[in-house]
Amino acid sequence: MPRKITMQITANEALSAEVRRITLTGDITAQPGQFVQVAVTAAHDPYLNRPFSVHDWRDGELTLLYRLVGRGTAILAARQPGESVTVVGPLGRGFPMGREHSAIIVAGGIGAAPLLFLLRRLQAAGKETAFLYGAQTAAALVLREQFQALATTYAESTDDGSRGRQGQVTELLQEVLLKQKADIYACGPEPMLRAVAKLAAAYQCRCYLSLEARLACGVGACLGCVVPARDGSYLRVCVDGPVFAAEEVFAP
Ligand SMILES: Cc1cc2nc3c(=O)[nH]c(=O)nc-3n(C[C@H](O)[C@H](O)[C@H](O)COP(=O)(O)OP(=O)(O)OC[C@H]3O[C@@H](n4cnc5c(N)ncnc54)[C@H](O)[C@@H]3O)c2cc1C
Ligand code: FES
Repeated sequence: MPRKITMQITANEALSAEVRRITLTGDITAQPGQFVQVAVTAAHDPYLNRPFSVHDWRDGELTLLYRLVGRGTAILAARQPGESVTVVGPLGRGFPMGREHSAIIVAGGIGAAPLLFLLRRLQAAGKETAFLYGAQTAAALVLREQFQALATTYAESTDDGSRGRQGQVTELLQEVLLKQKADIYACGPEPMLRAVAKLAAAYQCRCYLSLEARLACGVGACLGCVVPARDGSYLRVCVDGPVFAAEEVFAP
């Protein structure tokens, strides 16, 4: 059940010019792929809470990775260790553990945020993991050492060739799929997710995608976050997702 929880900020640090990591302690639990809604100020201005995926959760410590995009994230960036923040969560449906022995995780830019917790859980379940990390530039591959250290195999790509393969992360995915069958997990920009879904269908792999939408209530009531499902119905990202089986949302 989602709850409103007061948490203490223990760290709030810059990882790059655009991405920060905030660490909160308090009485919360979470599963990989779930998210929390953060009240960035106690003053309800901005009024709506901002959703962030659980980057990591262990020993009562919740970590979020966030990209600075607008007013809410700018306010969050100014919050200091020692201050408290109100969080609603955990929310949404997370990633299933899959069935194959091997898992391929595809991260696009800030889409890496929910994939550390997933990677740790898959490794702990004895799975072989390939972590494929793509971004526009080398600077945007934040925490690359952390993913590389945990995963069984690791490869990266950048649009400008400043680190790893020059090109798209889905090219790396295709190469891995030529060699092995695996469950696929992905989070990143929508064009990347569509391309991942296509490859998963072509290689007959199960595929789970974490989607984004503009959220309001975050608990399924306002229908502000719906995305069209392939069967003609609509799905609410906040409660039916944010993780969906690829075939629920994208045509192969
Ligand atoms: C389930 C879920 C999980 C998320 N997890 C993360 C995460 O782990 N890390 C992270 O950095 N961000 C994440 N986001 C996106 C994050 O919630 C927004 O970037 C944030 O709310 C922006 O707040 P703001 O006040 O700074 O920007 P605003 O002033 O609200 O918006 C600034 C700009 O960003 C765009 N924008 C805002 N929210 C979104 C969105 N949800 N999708 C696409 N564009 C948006 C706006 O259109 C606008 O152009 C997640 C979103 C969802 C729905
Ligand atoms: S944000 Fe209200 S239903 Fe999803």
